[in-house]
Amino acid sequence: MQDAARHWNAVYETKAADQVSWFQAAPVTSLRLLERWAPPGSSVIDVGAGASTLVDELVGAGWKDVTVLDVSEAALTKVRKRLGERLGAVTFAAGDVRTWQSERTYGAWHDRAVFHFLVEPSDRDHYVATASKAIAPGGVAVLATFAADGPVECSGLPTLRYDAESLARIFGSAFSLEHAEREEHTTPFGTIQPFTWVVLRRV
Ligand SMILES: C[S@@+](CC[C@H](N)C(=O)[O-])C[C@H]1O[C@@H](n2cnc3c(N)ncnc32)[C@H](O)[C@@H]1O
Repeated sequence: MQDAARHWNAVYETKAADQVSWFQAAPVTSLRLLERWAPPGSSVIDVGAGASTLVDELVGAGWKDVTVLDVSEAALTKVRKRLGERLGAVTFAAGDVRTWQSERTYGAWHDRAVFHFLVEPSDRDHYVATASKAIAPGGVAVLATFAADGPVECSGLPTLRYDAESLARIFGSAFSLEHAEREEHTTPFGTIQPFTWVVLRRV
């Protein structure tokens, strides 16, 4: 936990938001999938939210109950400062998803580019158990990981690569695979990173 916090704090303290490989000017796919697949009026948690502007977009679009979780306090501080007066609708949680437990349920769980860092099976098991408890029946997980032909590391850390079927298999029978798509993300440095997106419904 300490190591992860130290690593990611150093990233957010030393790099501008638009100078990290995962930067996107607008979280277009996240928003489209959440608006299409989450039950109306859903609460949502963005797991490993970083400095993403997804929270701004969700609040702007009228989502009333938005939580952001990240292991990096530095990332959460950036988001707090950016949101300013719009903070009211947002709950911040600092925690490592490999050990974190949710105290409530959500209609939607969003994770872009976090699950693929979990290279230890026990960490993936904890993540799936936590998501299974935290997502209300009928709610959805909207997940994006590196695709099967995606990068094998990010930010100096090893990553795993998935297609939709392998992701759905890991999440198991508590979830049904509703939707999958591929995205080719262009980094600020002009390289292409293929991602697998899935929407899994909690049964
Ligand atoms: C590649 S970035 C993606 C950030 C954001 N989801 C986005 O799309 O812009 C990975 C994020 O996950 C966070 N993170 C990494 N490992 C984590 C963990 N074990 N628990 C919680 N957050 C974690 C990092 O601090 C970082 O903000």
